[in-house]
Amino acid sequence: MPGKRIALAADHGGFDQKQSLKTWLVSQGYSLKDFGSDSASKSVDYPDYAHIVAKMVKKGEADFGILVCGTGLGMAIAANKVAGIRAVPVTSVDFAVLAREHNDANVLALSGRYTDDATNKNIVTAFLTTDFASEVDGSSSRHARRVAKLEG
Ligand code: RB5
Repeated sequence: MPGKRIALAADHGGFDQKQSLKTWLVSQGYSLKDFGSDSASKSVDYPDYAHIVAKMVKKGEADFGILVCGTGLGMAIAANKVAGIRAVPVTSVDFAVLAREHNDANVLALSGRYTDDATNKNIVTAFLTTDFASEVDGSSSRHARRVAKLEG
């Protein structure tokens, strides 16, 4: 929902889409912090960016994280190394909705090379506007029970 605080970052493979997302998210009313990187031509290491964003979410300084790399895969793997982070690599709107409803995902990892800009914006909208299905008929849901088991 607009007003939410988003921590955003990309490596060189996601830089162009990160720039596009940044302008668009601000225009939608989100509060946004951009943690880099700064160029599509300078090669950087995606875990460095994933860990910054994941720690912002973990500390409660951002409501959600959005990461963009070539595939979204490396960013999701790295972000999930931070305890309390549920990062998902997503390439469809349906999966964005399910990642929020069922998994209470708090970091979205996007592909800057295999998913187009318009699709990624639709994915982001779905992710940021879908609530976790934590309750059904006033009782804690099966999804809440499962998410509570994720940390092992
Ligand atoms: C960088 O070439 C690429 O490996 C990275 O952006 C990402 O796709 C890793 O998962």
